[in-house]
Amino acid sequence: MSDDSPQTLAQRMSSAFPAPQEVPAQFRPDSSAYERLFLLDGKVRTWEGATSEVLSPICLKQGGRCERTPIGNVPAMDETAVMAAVDGAVRAWDNGHGAWPTASVSSRIEAVEGFVARMIQSREEVVRLLMWEIGKNLEDSRKEFDRTVEYIRRTIDALKDLDRTNSRFAFDSGIVAQIRRSPLGVCLSMGPFNYPLNETYTTLIPALIMGNTVVVKPPKFGTLVHQPLLGAFGECFPPGVVNFIYGPGGRIIEPIMRSGKIDVLAFIGSSKVADLLKQQHPHPHRMRGVLSLDAKNPALVMPDADLDTAVRESLVGALTFNGQRCTALKIFFVHESIAEKFLARFCDAVTALPFGMPWRDGVRITPLPETNKITELNAYVDDAKAQGARVVNPGGGTSYQTLYFPAVVYPIAPTATLYDEEQFGPVIPVLPYREESEFLDFVTHSNFGQQVSLFGNDPVKIGRLVDKLANQVCRINLNSQCQRGPDSMPFTGRKDSAEATLSISDALRCFSIRTLVAAESNPANRDLIEKIVTGRHSSFLNTDFIL
Ligand code: G3H
Repeated sequence: MSDDSPQTLAQRMSSAFPAPQEVPAQFRPDSSAYERLFLLDGKVRTWEGATSEVLSPICLKQGGRCERTPIGNVPAMDETAVMAAVDGAVRAWDNGHGAWPTASVSSRIEAVEGFVARMIQSREEVVRLLMWEIGKNLEDSRKEFDRTVEYIRRTIDALKDLDRTNSRFAFDSGIVAQIRRSPLGVCLSMGPFNYPLNETYTTLIPALIMGNTVVVKPPKFGTLVHQPLLGAFGECFPPGVVNFIYGPGGRIIEPIMRSGKIDVLAFIGSSKVADLLKQQHPHPHRMRGVLSLDAKNPALVMPDADLDTAVRESLVGALTFNGQRCTALKIFFVHESIAEKFLARFCDAVTALPFGMPWRDGVRITPLPETNKITELNAYVDDAKAQGARVVNPGGGTSYQTLYFPAVVYPIAPTATLYDEEQFGPVIPVLPYREESEFLDFVTHSNFGQQVSLFGNDPVKIGRLVDKLANQVCRINLNSQCQRGPDSMPFTGRKDSAEATLSISDALRCFSIRTLVAAESNPANRDLIEKIVTGRHSSFLNTDFIL
């Protein structure tokens, strides 16, 4: 595309959108089976009230127009309906006495195993809906589904391990105790649009398997993807344990928070919204926050960096799923001595990125789901330009309908909004640096503290930087992009970036609290404990060993 003028690129972008008959049959969405469905008290029901139309970022050409495609309708619930869902979860929790929170670990595992067996039957449908609802390419949509299934399976294994350890008795200072993890109560789980399935389930499943009851509010973009799985939730878990609510967060979440009935807020989104939700709870200290929030992960490209590696990792780091990842690399500090070389190679790599519809083989740049996103991206670029920057890649920032060709913007002034705001999209701010202190200043003064990427090969320099950064962010990636995975590793952040740590095993801890039964270790107490255990009079106090 290097010889393309922006105009011909725009034309090519326009022809990337298909007419309805050009969509390959296997990728045509059909959500008619899930119209208006919701899950309440263990039953999938049809919503009779107002609905919201789901518009795909994929525009179809017909009758001389090219417009976002309606792909289904979901309930637009009112306060009464969302509170009915919360009350269902409160009843199933029953002050911790409900069938689910008191069920044995092995029976909860069995329920989740049943769910995952049902879930995999819906793979193709969910993948198709991911492509149409959020524009994620086929390969990444499949990855999101498979990674989620793998996460659930490994969660089951992690809980088995945890339970095996907790089946033992501890003896210390004359006290005998059994220490286990108990559920916390009713959890509100709100995932983000960029990983609507994965990042919802990475809180929903650990919350459930630990014995909590859950109300799920799917993201505005990424609602339909949950609909094929409602039946499996209804069949695999007792009534009220899993509930789904729908509608604009700004309207339906406030009454839920104000009711004080939420014990855990699992929210992946902006810190501004997280703060608001916490303040609405009448007893914020009673509600545990499991929050994955904003980030502006920077990359430092040092003079001795291997440019092949730096360009490759920067490209996937900045532009996987059009840069719509909280972990995306969102600003680049490149040493002034190599800035030109780096930019030339990086821009060539950006230019070569195939754009088009999500099912196209090898496609990397796809339609953006958020309304007004392109206007926002243009505003970032215009602001940077007004402060001396240029779009340095051919055709960068060209858009047509929901497609936006990535813009590499250079040199970014520290006063530009792109310097410190999270753009969450395909605009890549780059600035030259002379001293590493400029990068360290950025990290120190940033509101965010998730991850950084360092590209270079000097062990002394990198070792020192690691020491300075380790108390500023939670993951330092060496010659590698920033990312959440592998899911066994801790994923968290400082400042506005996160509260609590997620990973397969950490999540089990986030959604539970350590609880113990303890007694003075005398013969009478030991005898009592033994009788409880051997008589199987308690499901908490037991020495069962899950194989
Ligand atoms: O949006 C934030 C995600 O947690 C990023 O996950 O690094 O695996 O794409 P990822």
